[in-house]
Amino acid sequence: MSARRSADVVVVGGGVIGLVTAWRAAQRGLRTAVVDPRPGDGAAGVAAGMLAAVTELHHGEEALLDLNLASAARYPEFVAELTQLAGIDVGYRPCGTLVAALDADDRSLLRELHALQQRCGLATQWLSGRESRRLEPMLAPGVRGGLRVDGDHQVNPRLLLAALLVACERAGVAFHRVWATELTVTGERATGLTLSDGGTLAAGQVVLAGGCRSAELAGLPPDVAPPVRPVKGQILRLRMPAGRPPLLSRTVRAVVRGGSIYLVPRTDGELVLGATSEECGPDTTVTAGGVYQLLRDAHELVPGVTELPLVECRAGLRPGSPDNAPLLGPSGLAGLHLATGHHRNGVLLAPITGEVLAEVLTSGELPEHARPFTPRRWSPGEPAPAAREEVAV
Ligand code: GLY
Repeated sequence: MSARRSADVVVVGGGVIGLVTAWRAAQRGLRTAVVDPRPGDGAAGVAAGMLAAVTELHHGEEALLDLNLASAARYPEFVAELTQLAGIDVGYRPCGTLVAALDADDRSLLRELHALQQRCGLATQWLSGRESRRLEPMLAPGVRGGLRVDGDHQVNPRLLLAALLVACERAGVAFHRVWATELTVTGERATGLTLSDGGTLAAGQVVLAGGCRSAELAGLPPDVAPPVRPVKGQILRLRMPAGRPPLLSRTVRAVVRGGSIYLVPRTDGELVLGATSEECGPDTTVTAGGVYQLLRDAHELVPGVTELPLVECRAGLRPGSPDNAPLLGPSGLAGLHLATGHHRNGVLLAPITGEVLAEVLTSGELPEHARPFTPRRWSPGEPAPAAREEVAV
């Protein structure tokens, strides 16, 4: 059995959200520990890394849009600081995004998204099919229209995770490479964890950042367990052969016969192709149907993709919440904070989540812009939910 240890803050979960929280907490002088058997290996390691505040806007998510835009605006400085501290280039690429529509029905759906973006005051430009192809000549000749969004960029999430791990280590974060098996509650307060190696970890404050598994920690009072669920995303990685020019110059998203797809080209030749969205529990099986659907739609949009080597097929689990928005800050149990439920936006929301949680952990106050995302928003007498789920475009 390992010895009893202690920290000011213990973070359950070493994915992108847990790591950024731990890093920022340690920078504020808090003795911080992360509990995760494989830190740096969360859902973000599967994700494409689009910073798609504008192009991934959905009806009913206007409050979330503000948070997404605020986090996207922080990215250049966040990346510069992280790169300097960790010595790792995280592949931040301010390349912009084109959203294409394959047929006339898809164009109607895209018009809906454009109207929503305009109502929200966002800078987007409608393009004809020809103008879209002028921007991205490898698009299929049949493409009927597009939206140019110069503010939606990308980062490489695997490099981001690697850099966050180094930054945490350099900031003095302690890593416990085991599972957190139970939350310790003393009186009416969270006071630490029991670990799968039999040891315990006492903590002044606990942050639950376990992604879609956040509610599984034993000892969580039922009214405090976050309402998160896994939303499976299958995603493929292709590679441009050395010496060949990239197929695409920017991120391309598309509506293809009513479904959505995205292709994210990296400067190192990787082309990420995603993603399914499946409500089937904690299953990370890659299925023939999932791969078929992605390749079929990508081929219709950019016929050249099927010539590329397919180097990886994986499935990740997004931590979905009832309103698709994250749960940030103090829970109903003193000493326990949540940083989970980021759903499609974990990578995008990393900078602002780290900042918000560090503020909460040091001052006890949830910053104004994070208040709509309090984990207590579904409790009687608390603010109304941040967003509603309606039609996804
Ligand atoms: N944000 C991309 C996805 O969730 O698939």
